[in-house]
Amino acid sequence: MGIGRSIVLGIAANKTVTNFVTKHGMKLGAKRFIAGESLQQAAEIVKALNKEGLMVTLDHVGESVSTKQEAIEATNEAIRILEIIKKEKLNSNVSVKLTQLGLGLDPEFAYENMDRIAKAAKEHNNFVRIDIEDSTVTQITIDIFKKLFEKYGKDHIGLVLQSYLYRTEKDMIEMGKLGANIRMVKGAYKEPKEVAFPRKQDVDDNYIKMVKLHMQSGNYIAVASHDENIIREIKRYVKENNIPNDKFEFQMLYGVRNGLQRELVKEGYRVRVYTPYGKHWYPYFSRRIAERPANAFFILKSMFKS
Ligand code: FDA
Repeated sequence: MGIGRSIVLGIAANKTVTNFVTKHGMKLGAKRFIAGESLQQAAEIVKALNKEGLMVTLDHVGESVSTKQEAIEATNEAIRILEIIKKEKLNSNVSVKLTQLGLGLDPEFAYENMDRIAKAAKEHNNFVRIDIEDSTVTQITIDIFKKLFEKYGKDHIGLVLQSYLYRTEKDMIEMGKLGANIRMVKGAYKEPKEVAFPRKQDVDDNYIKMVKLHMQSGNYIAVASHDENIIREIKRYVKENNIPNDKFEFQMLYGVRNGLQRELVKEGYRVRVYTPYGKHWYPYFSRRIAERPANAFFILKSMFKS
């Protein structure tokens, strides 16, 4: 973890900053990264992205709920997303976080909520992916995923793994044997050096190694990164090994590297845009600023414009 990212995540946790940005943030530029506060607004954005040949994964933002009622509401919202996707014929699936489903309150309860969402995904012939959060919940997330994978299979449920964690190689080998659909990311949380590579180069090297490992075992993988070196190397690797374009997809975040997303579509690759919406967008937004502090200038620029 870079010092810059640590500082930004530290500032973002400050209460005054949180209150100010939550109140004014949408006007001040957060909408560059968030597709609105309602599902209907997000659905319109999905339609526009689909028209450009981009697939979507919708995320109703939120994490670490403090009551079971909030977790149930988040579960119901994820199911509503699946219903709207079907009704409006959107090319989209869904991403969810287990802490939003009550993982911090009671893992069995979060499992049951996730089970309801996966069941709905199967009924609607769609797919739900469990996002991965900080390392204190990695093991329980994997355990819940494996139980649901047995019930619903690779066409309806997937997982995310992070290349900054030392443990990921072991997890990736296990996921390869299961045949799971994995999204590879570098990792967005503040992690101690006891669990995660502190050097960016090691995180990047491990990323490429993990993607190749999963591709070699014939599994589907989502290469979720804006890193041009990584994208270039994966493009080279799939060509060299005759891996067809329908065995993988690139994924990027809504509002990040928009030009590159569209270029990849033109080159014939599958590209999916992770599109968050909802009222509780602040933690998501602060991680995007931490990844690239220059993003904070969009907010400052909008402040001077308004
Ligand atoms: P890196 O951070 O090295 O950036 C490479 C280049 O990309 C930068 O130089 C810059 O040009 C551009 N870039 C990167 N981030 C940017 C930003 N925010 N704004 C503008 N430009 C940016 N993490 C996690 O822990 N759990 C999860 O479940 C997910 N899920 C997820 C889904 C998808 C589709 C994506 C793309 C990412 C995630 N992440 C995630 C986040 C991930 O772990 C990571 O923090 C970011 O993707 C940034 O890493 P990059 O791979 O883009 O490389």
